[in-house]
Amino acid sequence: MGAIKPVDWDQGWEIQDTFYNTLYNKAAHLLKIRLNTLHTRVSYHCALNLLATEGGNPRVVLPAILLHDIGYSQLPETEIKDAFGPKIKNPELQRCHELEGVHLAGKILREIDYPADMIQRVQAIIDGHDTRETAHDRNDMIVKDADKLWRYSFEGFYLNYQWFDLTPRAYMDRLISKIPVWFFTNTAKTSAIEQAEKRRKDLKILK
Ligand SMILES: [Fe+2]
Repeated sequence: MGAIKPVDWDQGWEIQDTFYNTLYNKAAHLLKIRLNTLHTRVSYHCALNLLATEGGNPRVVLPAILLHDIGYSQLPETEIKDAFGPKIKNPELQRCHELEGVHLAGKILREIDYPADMIQRVQAIIDGHDTRETAHDRNDMIVKDADKLWRYSFEGFYLNYQWFDLTPRAYMDRLISKIPVWFFTNTAKTSAIEQAEKRRKDLKILK
C-alpha cells in the first residue's frame, strides 16, 4: 500500500463570475497564508447567499469579502497565529492586518479603475472587519456575517479546531454559543444553525 496522500484542502468553491474571479486571482498571492485562499472563496459564496436574501450592494460586498484578509500577507509569518483565533495574543498585529488590507485593497481596486466612491466603501468595511463590533450598514453586516460563516463550513470547521488546538467537541460548543453573538442578519443565523447541525452529524455527536 502506498503512502497516504495529505488532504489538499485548497480546492473547490470556485468563483463563477468572471469579474470577481479576476479580482480574486489578482489578490490570491496575498491570500496564501493561513489558507486564506480557501477561506475567501467559501466566504464569497456565503456572501452571495446573504445578498440574495438580505439585500445589500454586491459591488461593495463582493470586493470587500474577496479582499478583507489580504493584509495578513504583510505580517511576519511566524507571528500570524497571534493575530487571530479565540485568544488574540497580539491585538496590535490583528489591527495591523486590517490597516494593511485597507491599503492593499485600495491599490488593487484603483489598478482596475474601480469607482472611487465604491473603493472608499469597501475600505471602510475592511477597516475594522475583526476589531469593530458594530456594523456601519447592511453591506458591512453581510461581510462580517460571511466572514464568520466560513467557520461553520466543513472546511472551516476542520481546519479551525486544529489551528486553535481545540477538540472538535469544544470547537462545536464555541460555534453554537457564538451564533446569537456574532451574526447580524437572520439569514446568517439560520445558516449557522443549519451548518452546525451538519458538522455535528459529521462528528456523530448526535445519533
Ligand atoms: Fe476573514
